[in-house]
Amino acid sequence: MNGTPLRFTDGIVTIRKFRRSDKFRMAEIANNEKIAANLRDAFPSPYSVEDAQKFISMCLRQDPYQVFAIEFEGEYVGNIGLHRQDDVYRKTAELGYFIGEPWWNRDITTRAVNLICDYGFRELDIIKIFSGVFSFNTASQRVLVKCGFVLEAILKSAVIKNGATCDEYRYARFSTPKV
Ligand SMILES: CC(C)(COP(=O)(O)OP(=O)(O)OC[C@H]1O[C@@H](n2cnc3c(N)ncnc32)[C@H](O)[C@@H]1OP(=O)(O)O)[C@@H](O)C(=O)NCCC(=O)NCCS
Repeated sequence: MNGTPLRFTDGIVTIRKFRRSDKFRMAEIANNEKIAANLRDAFPSPYSVEDAQKFISMCLRQDPYQVFAIEFEGEYVGNIGLHRQDDVYRKTAELGYFIGEPWWNRDITTRAVNLICDYGFRELDIIKIFSGVFSFNTASQRVLVKCGFVLEAILKSAVIKNGATCDEYRYARFSTPKV
């Protein structure tokens, strides 16, 4: 990744490498049950500044770099990341993201997803990016469809979240469109 500026923008939304100082806003934004309800239980809830600090430190150690801050109007507003798989799945990456509630429904995540997919396909030699979305998370499903992801599978009763069972919707986008 030498020489690659870890900052990509479409002129409205930017994804960039974390700064250690992002921990304060990250903790403020992530400490929201409406966000945690759509993510895996590994996502801390409540979410502290210490949780954010540990997460940022982990991300800054990655090589190649894969998890970014989302910036809008010069402000940190959320996270977006790829998680490269291994073994025979090594050219596939899982995509995850969240954005602070005050910024929902302004097309920010859609823009950030397009930016990180471009980065993954262009710089990381990834050929497939997928995301697993809880069945009730229609906003996230809409983001993925807007970004050219296709529904690949519905994993029935795959998820237990907050005491309720639901299906997981698997969406995928490919470096080369599939017919
Ligand atoms: C899901 C999430 C990332 C979406 O971010 P966002 O920046 O608001 O997304 P965008 O504005 O780019 O797009 C949202 C789309 O969903 C639509 N939408 C929002 N709420 C919806 C709902 N309840 N039902 C159907 N569509 C909905 C919006 O209208 C918009 O579509 P449109 O452009 O066609 O109008 C954000 O809500 C979030 O962080 N949620 C909590 C964490 C999370 O779910 N992460 C993803 C886990 S898979």
